[in-house]
Amino acid sequence: MTDYLRVEAVNHSFGGLQALNDCAFTIPAGRITCLVGPNGAGKTTIFNVITGFLRPDTGEVRFRGRVLTGLSPQTIVHAGIARSFQNLRLFPDLTALDNVMVALPGGFGEEPLGALFRPFHAARTDRQRRETARERLAHVGLADRAGERVRNMSYGEQKLLTIARLLATGAELLLLDEPASGLAAGALDQVMALLRRLQDDGKTLLVVEHNTRVVQQIADHVLFLHQGHLMAEGTPAAIIADPALAEIYFGGAL
Ligand SMILES: Nc1ncnc2c1ncn2[C@@H]1O[C@H](COP(=O)(O)OP(=O)(O)OP(=O)(O)O)[C@@H](O)[C@H]1O
Ligand SMILES: [Mg+2]
Repeated sequence: MTDYLRVEAVNHSFGGLQALNDCAFTIPAGRITCLVGPNGAGKTTIFNVITGFLRPDTGEVRFRGRVLTGLSPQTIVHAGIARSFQNLRLFPDLTALDNVMVALPGGFGEEPLGALFRPFHAARTDRQRRETARERLAHVGLADRAGERVRNMSYGEQKLLTIARLLATGAELLLLDEPASGLAAGALDQVMALLRRLQDDGKTLLVVEHNTRVVQQIADHVLFLHQGHLMAEGTPAAIIADPALAEIYFGGAL
């Protein structure tokens, strides 16, 4: 059987620093897999490799058997993989709705000539796109914030908005880089409930997360990355209880 997502022997160096070192793992469809490991372990770097923002020095990534290595980020989104960024990357002066609209397939300004010659058709598709964007906002609980500028939204709302943007792409595999970091308890619970709902909707999630409570509550499976290499994997309970991994993660603080 073909693996859903397979990362195979990936190496990547930044100058003299080897950020990914024979990194290899697979993730199954329909599950929430958490990717954990200490700061600098290479978690964001492997996200960049999977989504085409970085080309690995060696190794490859396959999605449903198709080799993704060397494809552009845009092509990879079309293939069905979308990712969020650790630093959000929203447009602060645009409204929540417009931030979602730009992530819809086609983005802004699709078919400019078509709009000129078929104005009624263009107005209708624009209305449909707005409607779809509103649905994505509603999906993450931001229906009543559609007209708000991002700069006026709370950090928790902005985190939810990044997830609405992922949904707007239509991708089936979502890579989330620390979706719960910096959130107060209430917003944290909201994000965790949303991630589980996405799984119920049929999405597959790969989630980078530092908060062990979040990992324990949402993960079906955990991958532990250390110095750019998959050091261990298992159930959340097994990974969290492993004293050798805790030593690496917390420097023996636990
Ligand atoms: N563009 C870059 N140029 C140089 N070094 C980089 C670059 N991006 C990452 N690195 C280095 O590669 C290593 C892995 O970084 P990465 O961001 O993937 O870690 P991470 O596991 O996401 O860490 P964190 O938990 O802090 O987000 C680190 O040592 C980092 O300093
Ligand atoms: Mg990171």
